Amino acid sequence: MFIQWIFLISSATLISSATLISSKWIPERIVGGHLVSIESVPWQASLLKEDEHYCGAVIYSETVVLTAAHCVRDPSPSLYSVRVGSSSSIIGGQVVKALRVLKHDKYGQPFQYSNDIAVIQLQCSLQMGVGVSSIPLADSSPRLGSSVSVSGWGKIGLFKGGSELLLGTTVAIVNQKACQKSHFGRVSKDMICAAALGKDSCGGDSGGPLVSSGKLVGLVSFGGLICANPFRPGVYANVAELKPWILRTIQSL
Ligand code: ARG
Repeated sequence: MFIQWIFLISSATLISSATLISSKWIPERIVGGHLVSIESVPWQASLLKEDEHYCGAVIYSETVVLTAAHCVRDPSPSLYSVRVGSSSSIIGGQVVKALRVLKHDKYGQPFQYSNDIAVIQLQCSLQMGVGVSSIPLADSSPRLGSSVSVSGWGKIGLFKGGSELLLGTTVAIVNQKACQKSHFGRVSKDMICAAALGKDSCGGDSGGPLVSSGKLVGLVSFGGLICANPFRPGVYANVAELKPWILRTIQSL
């Protein structure tokens, strides 16, 4: 496994992921995903809890990252750090410790995953550059049916582990009412749903970016026990709706 992984890491930098995939060297990936390099999603961060990948996160500025509130249930800053600038969840890039963790004050209201967002202030500035940059927040929610991309180091399937290399996939925004029904009514206005046949985010991707036309439209939040279940769309914190809270919170730092 380790040898294979070393091989993947070195070959991924030499050969394009398309070559890797077409030659089927990686038999299984995040439900319908493909390898992506950090350079193509430089805002992607890994949230480490006690030094291990725990969730996704998104670079907002040199000193602020966003993640899901459920990823920082225990909000003690000393537990967390972020890794940026690496396609690997275990080596490389920059690792910076958290200084402050601020969960949305209405997280968990009215539903378990309502307002699933948190701001993390970092102890020192990220060195922005290749593979490390911020992404602007969307001002409006993407339209029904629009194509959005999601990335992360989360699980590649049921009973499977996470991926050591960053994966990404493309899904489409689905109807809010239908999504609400699929999730037993537990979908509020601060959420947006996206799905595609055989493609989804999964456990360990939470807090990571959902992107449309270069803007952050969502953060991975929940989706039911089985990922890529055609009856349970992936649910994301709706960044356009949560933007006022995000800006107010960052201003207060
Ligand atoms: N709650 C999961 C996490 O903590 C994310 C699940 C996303 N699921 C989905 N089917 N899209 O990482």
